[in-house]
Order: sequence, then C-alpha cells, then structure tokens
Amino acid sequence: MTAAEGTRLEYATAPERLRPQIDASYGLFINGEFVEPASNASFVTTDPATGRKLAEVAQGDERDVDRAVQAAKAAGARWSRLKPSERAKYLFRLARRLQECSRELAVLETMDGGKPIRESRDVDLPLAAQHFFYHAGWADKLQFAFAGATPKPLGVCGQIIPWNFPLLMAAWKIAPALACGNTVVLKPAETTPLTALHLARIMQEIELPDGVVNIVTGAGNTGAAVVNHPGMKKIAFTGSTDVGRHIMHSLAARDIPLTLELGGKSPNIVFADASLDQAIEGVVSGIWFNQGHVCCAGSRLYVEECIAEEFIAALRERMARLRVGDPLDKNTDVGAINSAEQLERIEGLVSCGRDQGAVLHEINDDPLPSRGNWHRPCFFTGVEPSHTIAREEIFGPVLSVMTFRTPEEAIRRANSTPYGLAAGVWTDKGAKIFDIAARLEAGVVWCNTYNMFDASSPFGGTKASGFGREGGRHGLRAYVQLAEARS
Ligand code: NAI
Ligand code: MG
Repeated sequence: MTAAEGTRLEYATAPERLRPQIDASYGLFINGEFVEPASNASFVTTDPATGRKLAEVAQGDERDVDRAVQAAKAAGARWSRLKPSERAKYLFRLARRLQECSRELAVLETMDGGKPIRESRDVDLPLAAQHFFYHAGWADKLQFAFAGATPKPLGVCGQIIPWNFPLLMAAWKIAPALACGNTVVLKPAETTPLTALHLARIMQEIELPDGVVNIVTGAGNTGAAVVNHPGMKKIAFTGSTDVGRHIMHSLAARDIPLTLELGGKSPNIVFADASLDQAIEGVVSGIWFNQGHVCCAGSRLYVEECIAEEFIAALRERMARLRVGDPLDKNTDVGAINSAEQLERIEGLVSCGRDQGAVLHEINDDPLPSRGNWHRPCFFTGVEPSHTIAREEIFGPVLSVMTFRTPEEAIRRANSTPYGLAAGVWTDKGAKIFDIAARLEAGVVWCNTYNMFDASSPFGGTKASGFGREGGRHGLRAYVQLAEARS
C-alpha cells in the first residue's frame, strides 16, 4: 500500500442498534394466513455476516404451490373486478406502511442478506415503497397507459425472485401485478426469505384481501413447482441465466407470457474527456455497491488508454478507502457475501483470473471478521478479452479493467458479450453520449452516472440478460392482456 492509500480517516464504529423481532420459525403465507407446509419440512436462513441462524422457514412443495394457486385464483375473481380506485387504495396503504416500517425492514434485510445497512436503508427500502406508490397511481389510470386498447388482468402470476435485493424485487414484481388486477404467488430466494414474509404481515395489517398475494418459500424445487403449475397465467423470473433458460424450456409448450431478468457483464466506458472524479465514484459504486451482487454491476471497465495509468491509480486509492465489514455498521461500504456458495463461486473466478495471467489489485487490508462470508473489493488489470473474468458474470466485488483507443473499439469491445443488461458511458461531450448510447447493446445505458433506479423508468435486458421490462409504463405491459377497445 502506498502512503496516499493509507491516509484514510478512521471512524468509531456506528452499529445500528435496532433489532427487528425475528420469529423462530415462519410458515407459508397462503390465503391471508401463515400455514404449515404439506411436507412439514423447513430450512434455515442465516446471517451471512456471522453465520448465525436467524430462523426456520417453511419448505413449500407442489402441494403448497397448488394451494397458493387455488387461493390466488379465487381471490382474483374478486380482486380483478374491484373498482380500480379501491385497488389503488390498498397499494397506497402498503406503500405507506412500508415507509413506516422501513427502519426495521432495512435491518432485517441486512441481517438476512449481508448488504450494508446504508444501502438497505437508503436504497432498497425507499425504492420498494416508491414502487408501490408509483403503481398505486397507475391502478385507476390503466386505460391511459395503452392507447386504443382495453387492458385486462392475466390472472394468477408466478413470480420468482433472487437474494440480492429481496424486498425490492418483491416490490418490483408484486406492485405492477396487483395494480393491473392480477393475483400473485411469489417465491423468495432461499437465503433471504425474511423481508418478504414480513411484507406478508404488512399485507395482513392493511387487510389486503386474502389470497391476493401468496408467498411460498423454498429453494429451486419450489421455484420449479411455481413455473410448472398449470394454473399460472404468467411467469416472471429474476436470477441466473442458467435457471432462466431452464424456465424458458419448461414453458416452451405453454402459451403464457414470460419475463426474464437475468445476469449481466455490463461495461462502463470512461473517455479521457470525462470528469474523472465523478467517473471514479460511478465505477466504484457500479461494481462495489452491494458487494457486486447486482445484475447490472459495471463489472467490465474500459478506460481510454491515454488516461489509464492515472485512472487506475485513482481507483486503487479510492478502493483503499472502502470499509469492509459488519453490514450493520453505518460506516460500512462493502458487507458480507450472501452465501458460502456464492463466495466459493467468486473465489473460483478470481483464481481463474490469476491463473490466466491477469494482475489482481486487492489493497484494502482491514482485518476481515473471523466468521461469515467475506471478499475484499478488488480489480484486475492485464485482462485479455478471452479471459474468463472478462466474459463470465462474477456477481461479486471484482472488476476487470481494460483499455481502448477509439470510440469504435470501445463500442465493439463493450458489445462483445452474450449479455446485454446495462452499460455506462462517461464523457463530457453530449454528442458522444448520444452516439455511443444508441450503439450499445444493453437494456439500460447510464450516462455520467451508474446504478440509478426509478419506478417510472423501465429496467430490463437484451440478449442473454433476458427480456421484458420492469417499471414504468413498459413494466405494466407484462401484466395485462390488451383487447381492442370498442369505438
Ligand atoms: P438462481 O438463479 O439459482 O436463484 C434465483 C431464484 O431462482 C431463487 O429464488 C431460486 O430459488 C430460484 N430457482 C433456482 N432454481 C430454480 C428452478 N429450476 N426453477 C425455478 N426457480 C429456481 O441463482 P443463484 O444460484 O442463487 O446464483 C447463481 C448466479 O446467478 C450468481 O452467481 C449470479 O451470477 C446469478 N444471479 C443473478 C441475479 C440477477 O439479479 N440477475 C440474482 C441472483 C443470482
Ligand atoms: Mg439469510
């Protein structure tokens, strides 16, 4: 470590003191109540920062999914005919209650998943509430979203979500489905089921009609039971590309709409004329936010060759200032890796990067906690396009740095990936932004910023990153069938 890298301010620890009430065990949420699973089986969810068991959670199987689908179907008959302004009221109530409980839910999210409390508090919770507010606003205005057509609900929607933004992904899935008059069977990820189950309690409190949202916890088999249930009228999935492909195969013979939000290997392109301080912050948050457990993480950095040396030095310095450790400490920048399996995957890809000849920069030498799953933020230079770390999603705090000489080369290299979720462009020149953004093969292109989300802005991928959009008017489209309006 150089002298410059060592000059970071030391703060006293600032642990979040509030501890949410966590039950010893949780049932499945079906037809408005918590029930035992048919098999009586359960699994454990832990705190990845300590390895400590948090709760036993019910393991749902086909029988439970069927029960949930029957409840959702029965509820749908009433929910879909409810006056849209009444549906909106329930969504507004959910949003407000989420805001009221946000501190508790943020701590719960951090304990169950390992992300820094600053992120759960300032990103996940506000955005989750925003999604309910936003879609509450649409519920009685859907006819204006689709000019010339009458939107009708689809029916029971099966929704499967991952562990990187557990409550936020639940909000992204549930809010538009309900606003459009559908009912839901949601399957949270097995390492992070708790906030969805506490959301179910909020649904009870606000007296959301029974069966409108059902939550069946479990692992991949439970997810497969959701996908394969013949009563589903739509499937929405966020997670790995492998499982997404598998779901596509399973649904090949069924005529129901599917949306897939899958992995990514998103490029961040920094031109020499960019504001470099701003670009450094964007690159840092693009890859090290949420330990890199972000589908749209800017995991490939392309820096214009003439500034590469200066930029890499600045990146090292900024990386040295990141604080890794207790996710419940408000000073923490990089928390725990979500699971031992994910840590192993990341470590495997990092050693592969070294073995293939790339140079690892891993500066932060704070001692890591002795228990739990941890990985220091790091980056690789000397990366060749053929290296595994330049091609495969790592889903951890690992950045691959490469250089380019011309805009054409930057675009060509950025697009040279099977994925197409997001991209970032950093330059001072407006014309360059428009030119390059239009030629990048990505669902979202951020210009002079990164990882900005808003409920009104559609999000989703292209190529192997999936299809369909979530958020905005485009996101509503996935939850309605359109009949031609009678004139
Ligand atoms: P995964 O795709 O297995 O898990 C996501 C969700 O799908 C979980 O709820 C899981 O229980 C469910 N699931 C698993 N198998 C299923 C099946 N056959 N049918 C239906 N649902 C199923 O992801 P995993 O194994 O946790 O992570 C592996 C890699 O996936 C990560 O390293 C990362 O690269 C990527 N990933 C991408 C995410 C994204 O937001 N796009 C989120 C999580 C992981
Ligand atoms: Mg957990």
